[in-house]
Order: sequence, then C-alpha cells, then structure tokens
Amino acid sequence: MTQDLDHDNVAHGMTPEDTPELRALYQGFKDNHLNPLWTQTGDLMPMHPKPQAVPHVWRWADLLPLAEQSGKLVPVGRGGERRAIGLANPGLGGKAYVSPTLWAAIQYLGPRETAPEHRHAQNAFRFVVEGEGVWTVVDGDPVRMSRGDLLLTPGWRFHGHHNDRDAPMAWIDGLDIPFSQQMDVGFFEFGSDRVTDYATPNYSRGERLWCHPGLRPLSQLQDTVASPIGAYRWEHTDRALTEQLLLEDEGQPATVEQGHAAIRYVNPTTGDDVMPTIRCEFHRLRAGAQTPERREVGSTVFQVFDGQGAVVMSGVRHTLEKGDMFVIPSWVSWSLEAETQFDLFRFSDAPIMERLNFMRTMVDGG
Ligand SMILES: [Fe+2]
Repeated sequence: MTQDLDHDNVAHGMTPEDTPELRALYQGFKDNHLNPLWTQTGDLMPMHPKPQAVPHVWRWADLLPLAEQSGKLVPVGRGGERRAIGLANPGLGGKAYVSPTLWAAIQYLGPRETAPEHRHAQNAFRFVVEGEGVWTVVDGDPVRMSRGDLLLTPGWRFHGHHNDRDAPMAWIDGLDIPFSQQMDVGFFEFGSDRVTDYATPNYSRGERLWCHPGLRPLSQLQDTVASPIGAYRWEHTDRALTEQLLLEDEGQPATVEQGHAAIRYVNPTTGDDVMPTIRCEFHRLRAGAQTPERREVGSTVFQVFDGQGAVVMSGVRHTLEKGDMFVIPSWVSWSLEAETQFDLFRFSDAPIMERLNFMRTMVDGG
C-alpha cells in the first residue's frame, strides 16, 4: 500500500509553519486562480470513495400523491416537455440528482394527454411499477408500457408519450443527466408537438424483430452501442426469475446466491448492458432471504416492484414496500432482507465505472 503511505505523508507530514511569507504565498495562489494540493488532499484523494450523496429512501406513498397533484396543477407540453419530478439526493444541495451520475424521477401523464417528441444525447429508460395505457413512441415505433416492463430510450432517439386511456398513469424514469451535465456532453432537439404515431399495438416493431430468445435476424448483423429492443416485458423477466428459483430447488446452479435470483437486461447484439451508461437489473429474493453486505464503486438505485422487506445502508435499516425507491451512493455498504418474496428493479452507472476501470466491489465474507 505504498500509495496510501504517500498519501499520509502529504496529508499529515507537510504542514508548513504559519508565517507572513506563507500567508503572502497563499494570497498569491488565490490572486492567480491556483489552489495547492497539500491543503485539500483528503477531499481530492480520499482513502476510499467518500460521496457527498447520501443513502436515502423515497416512499411511493409520498411520490404518487405529489405526482397526482402535479397532474392537476401543472400542464404537460412543449417547453416543460415532461411532467417528471426528479428525486433530489439530500447530500447534493437540492439538485435533482439522485446521485452524481444518475437521474431518477416519477413521471405522470393524465388521461388522453401527450408528452411531445424530442431527443437528447442522454440515455433514458422507463420502468412501470403499476398501471397501463401509455405508449411511448421511440423513433416512430409505438411501445406499450405496462406493469413490470422496462422501456428504453437510448441517446438521440426521438421519443414522446401518449396516454390512450381515461385513467392517469405514473412510472419512473432513469437517465444519465447528472453525468452528462458534469461532463458537458448534452445536446437536445425538439421534435413533433404530437407523437408521430398514435397506434397502440401490443408489441412494438423492435420487439417483433428482436424478441425471440436466442434468435438474431440476419438483416441485423451490425452491433449497436445501445439495445435495439424498446421493451423488456414482465412476462419474460418473471419467467426467468421463477425458473432460476425452481432450478435452485432442484440443486442446480442458477441463482447468484442462496434464495437470490437475478437477471441483467442486455443488448442482444453484444451481450453488454442495454445502454452505454446505465445498467438495468431485476432481483428476486425468496421470503426470509438476506444478501451479504456489499460495497461497490458507483451509484445504484432500486425500486421495490413487489413484496415487503428491508434494505440496510451504512448500518441503518429501512423497511420497504411496493414502489419505494432508494439510492446507494458509491462505496456505501448495503444488504437486502426479504420478509415476503421480494422483487426489486435496479439501475446503476456500472457500465461507466467498468469501462473506465474504476469498478471495485467488496462482499462481506466473499
Ligand atoms: Fe426525453
């Protein structure tokens, strides 16, 4: 650990004597927009990640009524673009950042409403914890949104939403907005004020082309950086998790750990994550199961899809119910406990951390 010893020397071994000359030196730094490393090493090079973002839980019982009230008071349309309410991490100064890299929001569309089309460099997905009746139109392809579905809007695809029913619908959005804002990579373009196709097919054209297990259309041999699948349907996710637990019952190696089934949504052209910056997964714990304590570089967000349980973050236990969302900042310890069968949707910035070689994980007893 030579690096850490060096770090200690810098942090603790080089405190200069306070003299008028030294004060003049520091004033000279300030006047010339300079800032010496030795006064701030602990913040710039911590021994391990020390995020400003904090672990936090948002209750569906709080989120949904506020979204419904927004539906009554705030119109949706050009300019505002979306009736989306961002989860603001209490450690990040009021910005609508759930973590330094990720945006998470509840979005609400009233009966017969349309959210206009636009496109942006940021990657986006929607996950539906309850409801139906909205179609998201991605590059002209209408995609049904129903409970348990993961819907993708990779960067620079035109997209708008329309509610075909007389009932409102809410869902969650996940994007890489904070990452793109801090890296200054954002571009944005308005599209049609209405969606370009009001058809309401059960399956999008992308699904009809791609969603046959293990079968790749020969017309589509070019790999793409984001998945060409617009919707990952609950029926497939549920069946995959059910089979993992059944296989475990039969003594077969199928689960990530005892009583913990999980899948990652992938881009079928590469087997990689669905989008370049965001990883999406779904986890199912048997009643009574508990995961070992973990720490990971990067931030992750969960939403409870079904069942009851708890998350322990930095030693603090939070009980959870359907729809509740929580964020685990970088290197914060966490584990899950299932009271009933416990289903959770998860997304994270892991593709960024892995590709840039910053990923590290630590599993208790592992
Ligand atoms: Fe958008």
